[in-house]
Amino acid sequence: MLVREVVELLRPCLDGVIVDCTVGTGGHAEALLSASERVRVIGIDWDEEALALARERLRAYGERFLPVQEDFKRLDEILTRLGLETVEGILVDLGVSSLQLETAERGFSFQQEGPLDMRMDRRRAVTAADLVNTLSERELADLIFRYGEEPAARRIARAIVRAREAGPIRTTTELAAIVARAVGGRRRGRLHPATRTFQALRIAVNEELSGLEDFLDTAIARLAPGGRVVIIAFHSLEDRVIKRRLRVHAGYCECAARWLIPHSETESCPRCGAARRLVLLTPRAVRPSDLEVQENPRARSARLRAGERADG
Ligand SMILES: C[S@@+](CC[C@H](N)C(=O)[O-])C[C@H]1O[C@@H](n2cnc3c(N)ncnc32)[C@H](O)[C@@H]1O
Repeated sequence: MLVREVVELLRPCLDGVIVDCTVGTGGHAEALLSASERVRVIGIDWDEEALALARERLRAYGERFLPVQEDFKRLDEILTRLGLETVEGILVDLGVSSLQLETAERGFSFQQEGPLDMRMDRRRAVTAADLVNTLSERELADLIFRYGEEPAARRIARAIVRAREAGPIRTTTELAAIVARAVGGRRRGRLHPATRTFQALRIAVNEELSGLEDFLDTAIARLAPGGRVVIIAFHSLEDRVIKRRLRVHAGYCECAARWLIPHSETESCPRCGAARRLVLLTPRAVRPSDLEVQENPRARSARLRAGERADG
């Protein structure tokens, strides 16, 4: 997704090391590796199956590609382990991969019957079924409202709790049917009635929002002068966090009214830490072209933001 845009934004980094924090099956990594014979790519993913496919796909690039099975939020440790102080580029393409979404047994899709799993990293302990069958009605409603921005969260939580009285809810299609009945089966525009509930559960199972700010702080601190960070978000909750954090690193004070006061190069705000470490390369989020959305409708929600490390 947004492959051409990613390669263009990372072009100045192609002489060094780029960390692809969400390598998936290696689409972006392949585009970067084929754009320059000098670039080296560290490809992180916590999904063993995705990483195996990336490894296979990128075999021809030999030691220029290094796969790492890990949570990218541990970037600091990963780079320290590899003996790298800084890197030239960092790419993050958040969310689930098409591979994960299309594999019924991973339980991400309400359109295919599968176990209610949704773990991107199968070593994690808690599945979507665990949440659906053990949280209280109130906790479920809060989760669905907060991570799914679902206006009918309370109704859905009530329906889930009622349905599980007859026995645990085990499959994706079972849950999708319960949600559809709870909201009256209406599609809202293009959205299936279960879309937001599934998004909420996926975010909770994979703790997608927690630690994102700290991760961005680490990523920016680990960029070499002139290094670049490129982030693609898939839902507005993530994009909001990214937009705000990049702005803080670009010197826009979080505690100043309306974020309008950029600090000077050397100053940092004593309250929120804003400082000019980063030059924003995308004043507005970059969105996929109409053609890309036509070819891949999932791309319609993608938002790309990027920055360049300012100090030298
Ligand atoms: C949208 S896909 C990336 C697709 C990839 N850019 C490509 O071109 O094929 C997101 C990937 O990030 C991985 N992922 C999500 N959160 C992660 C995390 N915290 N740590 C490591 N990998 C993560 C998922 O397992 C998934 O494979």
